[in-house]
Amino acid sequence: MVQATPFLLVLFLALGAHGLPAKKCSLTGRWVNDLGSNMTIESVNANGVFAGSYHTAVTATSNEIKVSPLQGSQQKGPNQKGQPTFGFTVNWSFSDSITVFTGQCFVDDDGKEVLKTMWLLRSRVENIKSDWKATRVGNNVFTRL
Ligand code: BTN
Repeated sequence: MVQATPFLLVLFLALGAHGLPAKKCSLTGRWVNDLGSNMTIESVNANGVFAGSYHTAVTATSNEIKVSPLQGSQQKGPNQKGQPTFGFTVNWSFSDSITVFTGQCFVDDDGKEVLKTMWLLRSRVENIKSDWKATRVGNNVFTRL
């Protein structure tokens, strides 16, 4: 029995955390991204629908930045394994633009939750000839505040 103890210890360490339930990533709460923008996501309902608010640190306009509403949806399918995909729209309250974000909620190697996203920012342009320059694309990484 005494000799079995180190064996069991080695076996446990070799198995690592695989036998334990993996930490899940939850969208609910306050987040900050790599630009310094802050976002609050209220509770996600049973259908995966959520709402919240977004305080961007930057703007493509010369308007005064104001906190803006967001509405989104999280995948509730059976294969999300605690790291769900999601999307949300920010309807900017201080400009004529709309941004859609899509991403996935991950738990990183340190056990920290991180949202990896890509976005499309659609600005209003005066006419169809200007459509080509109306959409910006980028990515943001959010960590929990
Ligand atoms: C506008 O300039 O018309 C509205 C604000 C847009 C802010 C963009 S959305 C994508 C990127 N990520 C942020 O946190 N802010 C910028």
